[in-house]
Amino acid sequence: MKKNLTFLGIETSCDETAASIVRENTEGLGDILSNVVSSQVDEHKEFGGVVPELAARAHIEKIDLIINEAIKKSKLNLNDIDGIAATAGPGLIVCLTVGLGTAKAMASSLNKPLIAVNHLEGHALSPKIINKISYPYLLLLISGGHTQFLEVKGVGKYKRLGTTIDDALGEAFDKTAKMLGIEFPGGPKIESYAKMGDENYFKLPKPIINKGGCNLSFAGLKTAVLKISKNINSEKDKFNLAASFQKTVEDILCEKTKVAMKMFRENNNILNSTFVIAGGVASNERIRNKLKNLSLNQNFNPIFPPINLCSDNAAMIAWVGIEKMKLNLINKLDFPAKARWPLDEKAPFLKGAGVKL
Ligand code: KG4
Ligand code: ZN
Repeated sequence: MKKNLTFLGIETSCDETAASIVRENTEGLGDILSNVVSSQVDEHKEFGGVVPELAARAHIEKIDLIINEAIKKSKLNLNDIDGIAATAGPGLIVCLTVGLGTAKAMASSLNKPLIAVNHLEGHALSPKIINKISYPYLLLLISGGHTQFLEVKGVGKYKRLGTTIDDALGEAFDKTAKMLGIEFPGGPKIESYAKMGDENYFKLPKPIINKGGCNLSFAGLKTAVLKISKNINSEKDKFNLAASFQKTVEDILCEKTKVAMKMFRENNNILNSTFVIAGGVASNERIRNKLKNLSLNQNFNPIFPPINLCSDNAAMIAWVGIEKMKLNLINKLDFPAKARWPLDEKAPFLKGAGVKL
């Protein structure tokens, strides 16, 4: 097998059209030669959420341009690429088929291997692009569609320790933002509102916090925020509610992370390891700092991908392509797009565990 593989990654699972070229370097890490992401925030703003048909149409309009831009920025040409990796799930089928279909057409016409990538595996392995991490490690994946604790044991090898039993954390951030009159996607805005508020002003519930295990729940918290939001008018109280919501989320995550770390230690019979947080909500500075301190206190080495690798991107998809190619995990051109594709196929079905939206 040729060393230092170079892959084109394509991501269209939801509302970001993205393409990236990544080359493995001599240290076994990834050089990101280009990483182009086109967000559809403006297309969906007036609807308060992602509209699948609009998203698919925007992907169709942009995909060729975005891939061309990624190739141009990398200063390579298509012949230098060893394979094409595209997100095949989980996500919106109408969106996934745009990127996956383009990847299939390119793989067929260029006679290059196709790797169908699980979007969640993209997030899970993203820290390995820039850090040497050995398996197993503990992952907290917090995004718009997922909230899960996973043991990452290797490519394609995952054990789910806990998951949300209702809303994903990003969804809870976005809905809280909506209740405060903030436009979609409101997660990042809640963080800036919270900086101006008193985090102890409103007392909010921490659902299933004392229940054993590391499953999480945010529906009750969302309902409590809804009730309070109906009775506040001042900007100051909006800041206070954003701050109280974020503080409650931090407390829930810290408490459940401690449980997940204990489970991880017991399952693997090791005292210390690496703790990774990934996904869009991992861009939140407060959450990052809280979990970083907790991790150090618990003897886990915290590794959090940089912000541009936390939110959806195609560099993480290209990287999974490289890792799978090295294991000869190449896919046939009839690989289907999958709306649901959990990382741990054996874990019992729970709403938040393998469906993106
Ligand atoms: O991973 P991602 O880009 O897309 C999915 O795979 O879902 O995550 C998007 C989610 C959105 O819900 C967004 O509001 C949230 O991540 N998010 C944040 C922040 N930045 C993005 N939530 C809280 N604080 C942030 N700074
Ligand atoms: Zn994602």
